[in-house]
Amino acid sequence: MTRIVVHPAQSPLRGSVPVPSDKSIGHRALLFGALGNGVSHIRDFSRGEDNLSTAAALRALGIRIDDISPSEVRVYGKGIFGLEAPTASLDCGNSGTTMRLICGVLAAQPFSSVLVGDASLTKRPMNRIAEPLRRRGALIQGAPHPKKAGEITAPLHIQGLPDGMSLTGLEFESPVSSAQVKSAILLSGLYAHGTTHVREPYVSRDHSERMLQAMGAPIRTMGTIVEIEPAGWDGKLGVLDLDLPGDISAAAFLLAAGTIVEGSQVTVRFVGTNPTRTGILDMLRDMGAGAHVEPLGERAGEPIANLAVSHGPLVGRLFGGEMVARAIDEVPILCALAARAKGTTTICDARELRVKESDRLATMAKVLRAFGVSCEEREDGLVIEGREGPLTACRVDCEHDHRIAMSAAVLALLADGPSVIDGAEVIATSFPKFVATLRALGQRVDVED
Ligand code: S3P
Repeated sequence: MTRIVVHPAQSPLRGSVPVPSDKSIGHRALLFGALGNGVSHIRDFSRGEDNLSTAAALRALGIRIDDISPSEVRVYGKGIFGLEAPTASLDCGNSGTTMRLICGVLAAQPFSSVLVGDASLTKRPMNRIAEPLRRRGALIQGAPHPKKAGEITAPLHIQGLPDGMSLTGLEFESPVSSAQVKSAILLSGLYAHGTTHVREPYVSRDHSERMLQAMGAPIRTMGTIVEIEPAGWDGKLGVLDLDLPGDISAAAFLLAAGTIVEGSQVTVRFVGTNPTRTGILDMLRDMGAGAHVEPLGERAGEPIANLAVSHGPLVGRLFGGEMVARAIDEVPILCALAARAKGTTTICDARELRVKESDRLATMAKVLRAFGVSCEEREDGLVIEGREGPLTACRVDCEHDHRIAMSAAVLALLADGPSVIDGAEVIATSFPKFVATLRALGQRVDVED
């Protein structure tokens, strides 16, 4: 167990820093590369633990993945029918994306497999993928969810399809905007005899659609509907040759710190600015701060930019609907911005946060209160009263959730003394150099094992 001690900012954050490459795109580059016909080259690959879970699972499915350098991997794709039966359970660690996307592929295989995860992943809901996949013929069993009757969770047992059986077409209206659900269904659709349509309430991150299209998959997007039409397709995916963009969900912590700590000026370089991910930039703007966006063209079929913020006053606002869907991983750090805003910030339509690595609405409510910030927890969001002056230094447990740990670290920069964050090793899930980056920006953070 690692704890970090974050000291109040004695000086502004100043500097220009990189962030790890986008975790969501990294998962997809590995998995889709494995299904491609030939060798995919992936540069600026982040070795966050979640991405490493995907790599390990693919290796266990017979895919060769070479580490060419600390930031480059080569994936030896064997085509969509090239995976081999694993000899043991596939460990997805803390990564919901690994489990849900790989499940979409494994559901169509002739061999059986078992997907397991850590304590957090073993509480996350899996009916959202199992149920639509079963509707198209997949044979998936989960463990009963420990708290929700009728829900299932990991381990997932996926039975190989009997000889001569294949998945069928599917019309699926997802009740939630979820790129993991959408991607699992689309991937299974590559193997189906029939058309796949997935519709979601708001467009969730569309990295799968962009990458599959670039690889020659029979995919089309029409507003909130995505279609896979395998008829007439030769079943072959091309290869990838990508420099991955920086992760806006990691950048968000630095942008928030730069906005709320007096005198700060922070630039984060080469960040992916896919419009399905930039809700946090809109939120910053609406709160009166705003990031300066310097567009730099595209990487891996995704727009990228340098993002610069400076300290400035914030005002509380109401956030919900599609803006929350486009900032689904940034709600915890939005809470830190809200803590410093003038007036009340109301976050609604954020029910999905209850089924992330932790129940992020409940966990953030606890963290905010520990720092002396008043907030009301609602079923689908939070109401946060901004506070002037120093926050209360405290000790918090991040409940095995990387984004809670980093949000607490940012709040701690405003506290009246050093704050302790327990369980901070989980930050390595997505941003292994987070502490080093805060230090590079002039802040004092001690790490204690
Ligand atoms: C992700 C999708 C989102 C997000 C997660 C990564 C992805 O989850 O919260 O961090 O890579 O597809 P949901 O699909 O559950 O919304």
